[in-house]
Amino acid sequence: MQITLDSKPYAALETEALVTHVFEETDPVQGRISELDQTANGLLRSLAKSGELTGKTLEMTLIHAPSGLKAARLLLVGAGKREQFTSATLRKLAGAALRYLKARSIKQLAFLVRENNATEESAQAIAEGVLTANFETDKYKTEKKNDKSIDAVLLTGYSDAERAAAEKGLTRGRIIAESQNFARDLINEPSNKLTPKILAEKAEAMAKQAGLAVEILDEKRITELKMGALLSVSQGGPEPPRVMVVTYTPANLKPGAPVIGLIGKAVTFDTGGISIKPADGMEKMKYDMAGGATMLGVMRALAALKPNVKVICVVPATENMPGGTAQKPGDIQTAMSGKTIEVLNTDAEGRLILADGLHYAKQLGATHLIDAATLTGAIVVALANVNVGVFGSDQPFTDKLLASSKAAGEKMWQMPIDDEYREFIKGTVADIQNIGSGKGGGAITGAMFIKEFAGDSPWVHLDIAGTAWNDDAKSWLAKGPTGVALRTLVHLVMSY
Ligand code: BES
Ligand code: ZN
Ligand code: ZN
Repeated sequence: MQITLDSKPYAALETEALVTHVFEETDPVQGRISELDQTANGLLRSLAKSGELTGKTLEMTLIHAPSGLKAARLLLVGAGKREQFTSATLRKLAGAALRYLKARSIKQLAFLVRENNATEESAQAIAEGVLTANFETDKYKTEKKNDKSIDAVLLTGYSDAERAAAEKGLTRGRIIAESQNFARDLINEPSNKLTPKILAEKAEAMAKQAGLAVEILDEKRITELKMGALLSVSQGGPEPPRVMVVTYTPANLKPGAPVIGLIGKAVTFDTGGISIKPADGMEKMKYDMAGGATMLGVMRALAALKPNVKVICVVPATENMPGGTAQKPGDIQTAMSGKTIEVLNTDAEGRLILADGLHYAKQLGATHLIDAATLTGAIVVALANVNVGVFGSDQPFTDKLLASSKAAGEKMWQMPIDDEYREFIKGTVADIQNIGSGKGGGAITGAMFIKEFAGDSPWVHLDIAGTAWNDDAKSWLAKGPTGVALRTLVHLVMSY
């Protein structure tokens, strides 16, 4: 899909659909909507009077052959209350408009920004909204029913003075959204099409194309490095593990500057291992590599956005299978850090592979660690599919992440990691155990386990089990992989 800025007066734009948004207020016909109302001889005001144009969130009002405009259609999207309007609202409504028009076999649209909103930030939000909305999961359908897709989007309504900022926002939005879709495409792949080896090949290809340094550790190297926790998970099946290391180094790296480590869980399929999962819904466990895919997507975006900070991305990848060689409940493993782990449940495998991932990232020089993982079903119980669970060992660093999540329009909620929870994972026969001995607090237990391997480094853990996959389509996003946390992490890194 092409997305470009247009400089013609919007009334002269020949497009299949001109889209703008309307606020929910006593008189929704204001500013640009009032301009449009005048060209359309009072049609919008009369729609508002009859209650057909209210501005209620994501309300769609489609007008054919609007008079005074060259556009074939005018689509007015409800934006909700003006006081509550943010770039997150704009991102969503731009996406919803695209999907609404796409369903009607429309191929191109023009998005008209509202008065006083022709900013860099809004151009970015619109670009992100439409590009992520255009993503579909029909890659493996041989008959794409009527091949619905939007080919071109124009951004319009900018003055000459506003164009440079809009262009900047649009470019940044395009980079971020395309990287988010790159991650979503990986997440959507089934496990027979995306083994750890294939994922590593794709990561390598992406990194080379983006101009990032990349190293793929194979089974031999992983064994040499004594990544015992990762190996204990991969031993259950024939697919060998991989560790991807993708590095971004800024042009003028200052000695002593922070180095960010991004570690993503990539279990390309999680059967649970010997502690096997129930059959019902198990197919969804192909998305257990969403954390890893998201981190790779972040790196892809950073390569183009060029932040001033060094970033090391480490993605441990494996299947979790219940073969004859699989680890068994009660087995004791030695992680790369030297800590011993009693594996009481082989389905708590994400924390095992992250243990070695975090340790390795530190060894490579990362000073600040962030991991993303579809770690626990318990976070789904706590926060459902609305908020990402955030756990952090250093409040200023965690606050920085939370501020970025606000700015990026991704909902995240901080969870506690008090010392009391440490007791839950205290080992009986080894240093620690991989599940809690207490009742409840499953997502926290998982976080406490990972924290053991972050040591004294500021660390944030994102549990995306509830938010990485949409079970139902949203009006602005297809059903399936969301690519959540990517925008927040890109924003965070860019803020250094
Ligand atoms: N991959 C799962 C977590 C998960 C659950 C992701 C639901 C997405 C949706 C993880 O490896 C797992 O199985 N966790 C266990 C941990 C338990 C055994 C302590 C869980 O949450 O049940
Ligand atoms: Zn599991
Ligand atoms: Zn898992």
